[in-house]
Amino acid sequence: MNMANDVSVVILAAGLGTRMKSRQAKVLHRAGGDTLVGHVVNTALESARAERIFVVVGHQADKVREAVGPRGVGFIEQTEQKGTGHAVLCGRDQLALLGGLLVICYGDCPLVRKETIAGLIQQQANSSAAATLISTYLEDPTGYGRVIRDAHGNVKAIVEQKAANSEQLRVREINAGIYCFNAELFWKHAHEIQPNSVANEYYLTDMVEILIRAGHAIQPYVIDDPGELLGINTRVELAAVDRIFRERTVRDLMLSGVTIERPETVTIDAQVKIGMDSVVEPFTRILGSTEIGENCRIGACSIVSNSRLADDAEVLPFSHIADSTLERGAHAGPFARLRMQSQVEAKAVVGNFVELKKTRLGRKSKAQHLAYLGDSTIGEGANIGAGTITCNYDGVKKSPTTIGDGAFIGSNSTLVAPVEIGPGSYIAAGSVITQQVPEDALGIGRSRQAVKPGWAKAKRDQNVTRAES
Ligand code: UD1
Ligand code: CA
Repeated sequence: MNMANDVSVVILAAGLGTRMKSRQAKVLHRAGGDTLVGHVVNTALESARAERIFVVVGHQADKVREAVGPRGVGFIEQTEQKGTGHAVLCGRDQLALLGGLLVICYGDCPLVRKETIAGLIQQQANSSAAATLISTYLEDPTGYGRVIRDAHGNVKAIVEQKAANSEQLRVREINAGIYCFNAELFWKHAHEIQPNSVANEYYLTDMVEILIRAGHAIQPYVIDDPGELLGINTRVELAAVDRIFRERTVRDLMLSGVTIERPETVTIDAQVKIGMDSVVEPFTRILGSTEIGENCRIGACSIVSNSRLADDAEVLPFSHIADSTLERGAHAGPFARLRMQSQVEAKAVVGNFVELKKTRLGRKSKAQHLAYLGDSTIGEGANIGAGTITCNYDGVKKSPTTIGDGAFIGSNSTLVAPVEIGPGSYIAAGSVITQQVPEDALGIGRSRQAVKPGWAKAKRDQNVTRAES
């Protein structure tokens, strides 16, 4: 998309959002894998350079800065929320010098597509109007500002729900809250916004009448699909918006060659990448910065977050993979848990009820059942028996375990870290290993078995005699 150099964007995000019934500022609530304001910032970044994007902050300003500051945008402080017009006026010092086109949008309206913003900018750039605003027609326009037109169909004013008369309330064309102003004209007249007599707020929407009074025209940019203009005021709308984001993401993925079974049950964040011919089974959650290669499978009800799966990797159902890597052809699950930069190398297998924490499992190594492997480095072709536990924590510090290539760890072994198991060595089942086991050696650490012939029968006979006496 071509990015005009003279476009500035202001995102209003200072309000608390009372109807969310939350201690958290509305724009920090999450939908579709990002904060609401985060989505709006990302969209803005498609149309303007980061240095020309400003977020108006007030409620929980620090947290909003934290959420989107790393994306390079600037901020405008609005300490008291005196309305949408006041919010923009707070940025006069930063904005008035910029000239060109001034896009204004709201941080609680995150579904707007980048193409829509580009279209709005394009239309304003090609016209002599003072501003272009996005409108749409709603079945139920309750709560929105109404777009009032004159007899010729020209935009005359925007009237808020609270201030509208009964005739205006019947208007179904609403103001989406997204505008593109001629910046020079905006700042020339912005000081004319007066507190609204009904709400005692400075309404940005009053700029429409102000600019018309000054002899300029305002153009509508009418959008047919009102879906993307949905603003969020309550948690019911938050859920609706989240669903729309999810639908968009899975649709895009399916069109790019990913099979998604029962897509309506799947949650995939917007930044996730999945390669061709991979299959995503029902009820999975694929989150954050996860990247999945081609021909992979993500089993039903699994959660994969901030992880990387190379081609042909497979996650079987009910697994939880976080911040970890599966190399080419590796398998995990069912019921596997990988966390904290664990790495399963090519064709290695992590089976059911196996947990890996900060552990590398080498090529073709297997830990098939019921094990905890923490802070461990395991070589190639090793076999980790069922019930193997690394004791990596002594109550104070974490210690490492190293297992060499081709080692065989017998079932139910306890490896007390720090400890090193040499390549090709063998650990007898049920051992408690506290010392290094050298290459090709047997490590056995358990009490020797005693067998007492006839002991059980003698015991039973004794019990019978007691009962009879
Ligand atoms: C606004 C519009 C309305 C439009 C609707 C679309 C005005 C006066 N009305 O109404 O025409 O149909 O959006 O969703 O603009 N904010 C600030 N500082 C403030 C006040 C608000 O930053 O002092 C921010 C809020 O955090 C929010 C956004 O501006 O993100 C919109 O404010 P809100 O109070 O929700 O406006 P609406 O009443 O919905
Ligand atoms: Ca609103």
